[in-house]
Amino acid sequence: MECRIFDDYNGLSDAAAELIIQIVERKPDAVLCFATGNSPVGTYRALAIKAKERGIDFSQCFCFGLDEWLGIPPEKKGSCHYLLYEQVFHPLGIQESQVHLFDGLTKDIDMECRIMNGEIDYAGGIDCMLVGIGLNGHIGFNEPGVDMELRAHEQELHGSTLASGQLYFNEPTAIAKGITLGMAQVMNARTLLLLANGISKSEIIHKACDGPVTNEVPASYIQKHRHAVLMIDKEAASKLDK
Ligand code: F6R
Repeated sequence: MECRIFDDYNGLSDAAAELIIQIVERKPDAVLCFATGNSPVGTYRALAIKAKERGIDFSQCFCFGLDEWLGIPPEKKGSCHYLLYEQVFHPLGIQESQVHLFDGLTKDIDMECRIMNGEIDYAGGIDCMLVGIGLNGHIGFNEPGVDMELRAHEQELHGSTLASGQLYFNEPTAIAKGITLGMAQVMNARTLLLLANGISKSEIIHKACDGPVTNEVPASYIQKHRHAVLMIDKEAASKLDK
């Protein structure tokens, strides 16, 4: 695991965007996977600006969404679908035909998961997966105690995930479950880019990096990932042992 600590959120966002650009420059048909949430917003903003300034071509890339709230329509502001189109796909000129996302309204969750798994296999796996970390150590919607062998699956969400998730919506929204790529897919990503900023993430970053590798803290598995890059600001890094 490579850990890079930045003075502030802008530095972190800039470096994360550069890493994604490097991957796409090296492999123009790279397979990318994106989380939503607050942590990557600056990265997506920086990526859009840099891509435009430098003419980075995403037209051969294929993109997956990491997760989605079950029961939430794609067009609803705050859904992962909505946010990824708004923050990533539209600014980068990525077309619908280059994207596969979970359908939060699916009536057949098993089928939805099978289709997602099949699409990832068909794409040849994920070159770069960008993730955040939940206050309880989740990655995607892989909550503490998750079976590490799982691929796409439905997940009952913990209280802290529901509380922070509520803030992505501009009105009170009934959320209870999510659908997510599994830890097997997180661990298989050829590059795993994990972002965290702010003092509120310092304790869980300490646990994930310095503590035991355990499914009680799914993010602790970054210690075992073959190519994980952790980009955090000074505040999130403030409780690290070294
Ligand atoms: C969202 C996702 C979540 C978030 C995590 C951190 O698609 O996968 O796991 O990455 O909850 O959220 P923020 O970045 O808002 O602190």
